[in-house]
Amino acid sequence: MTGRRFAIAVLGALLAVTAVACSEEDHGPLNVPASADADVGKQLIQSYGCGTCHTIPDVAGADGRVGPSLEDFGHQMYIAGAIPNDWDNLVAWLMDPQAIEPGTIMPNFGMGETTAANVAAYLASLK
Ligand code: HEC
Repeated sequence: MTGRRFAIAVLGALLAVTAVACSEEDHGPLNVPASADADVGKQLIQSYGCGTCHTIPDVAGADGRVGPSLEDFGHQMYIAGAIPNDWDNLVAWLMDPQAIEPGTIMPNFGMGETTAANVAAYLASLK
């Protein structure tokens, strides 16, 4: 293989790796099931008052600084820096944060699974 051919092969491999990395970023780590409704989730986020502690895009008055900002949450790789941000973990976090991070001040709102899934669908849409 000539030097130039080798360089082209290396470049091609790099482009392939970059393409995979980009497509992962576009979709984010969360696979939202069709049954979960992000619009309902947004209403729930409003009524639970999540915005007193979190900054959340497109939710009126949600500019809290107690917890982490949830801007771009759909791209985030970990929840509470502790567990991978996949669908089941996010729903579990919303239903019972203390079970995952004992002592966290993130409240347990007593959400059922359907409610948590709707809230999670809105959070997953934040990119
Ligand atoms: C009393 C303040 C408070 C309220 C209200 C609150 N949270 Fe939190 N939340 C936190 C804190 C603090 C953390 C960080 C927990 C940790 O890292 O241990 C957190 C973490 C999170 C995370 C993980 C974020 C990350 O970057 O890892 C999500 C998602 C989340 N909250 C969603 C919600 C939703 C949805 C609501 C409303 C149903 C809500 N929170 C209400 C305080 C709050």
